[in-house]
Amino acid sequence: MLAEVLAGRSPVDSGWWDELKAPVTEVICDETSTVLGAFSYATRSGDGAGFILWLHCREDQVLTEALITRALDQLGQRPVHAFEFASALTLGLEGLSADHRPVTRRALEAAGFTGCNLWRYMRADLPVTGLPHVAHCTVTDCQDPPGKRLEVREGGESLSEATIGRPTAGFGVLWWIGVTPAARGRGLGLALLGSALDLLKGLGAIETIL
Ligand SMILES: CC(C)(COP(=O)(O)OP(=O)(O)OC[C@H]1O[C@@H](n2cnc3c(N)ncnc32)[C@H](O)[C@@H]1OP(=O)(O)O)[C@@H](O)C(=O)NCCC(=O)NCCS
Repeated sequence: MLAEVLAGRSPVDSGWWDELKAPVTEVICDETSTVLGAFSYATRSGDGAGFILWLHCREDQVLTEALITRALDQLGQRPVHAFEFASALTLGLEGLSADHRPVTRRALEAAGFTGCNLWRYMRADLPVTGLPHVAHCTVTDCQDPPGKRLEVREGGESLSEATIGRPTAGFGVLWWIGVTPAARGRGLGLALLGSALDLLKGLGAIETIL
């Protein structure tokens, strides 16, 4: 994951990473060369926008503020976005977790960034028992995000589909689940959820995020 992110690649949102000039990664150490934090930034070729791609320093407030200041100094006068894309360091989730990164969030806001409430995540341990399953669905490989796509078809028509990510270190993401409007309210969504979570478990996930 580290090699991928240092090379400026990401399995999820790869197209957005392709638009960036080579990311710069900086590491901050103490006097004994112990790593205290690291962050990465880049500019976009097309419009010159700047990006703080990722930043980690164990939510230490002083360090976080220092690293953000440093990144903004290096990026110079331009619009700057932070945590806009998924990175190879995560399961592919976009954004900054408001619950788990409160210090980084506050430091970004103090530096003039404005938060945008884009996603809400949920998690569950696997297996989830007691869910129904679909009688039949086709499973195909999916490239972006890397994983599998499940589809329920009836009479040549697609009724329902779900996308799951290939689990990483026991974590599997349910990226999408949908039922066509005409087929909703008949239990298909719940049944496909059961099948999708079983497939995630079969691929090695012990926990799922959606
Ligand atoms: C969400 C969705 C997949 C549900 O599919 P479905 O086949 O209609 O769901 P089911 O018939 O299996 O219902 C499962 C449960 O969800 C509940 N439910 C379904 N749609 C709901 C809605 N819009 N609001 C609240 N509850 C809902 C049902 O009442 C049922 O609960 P119950 O067993 O306690 O009665 C479907 O509405 C959909 O495709 N929505 C648009 C796409 C979407 O928003 N996907 C989720 C984002 S990834």
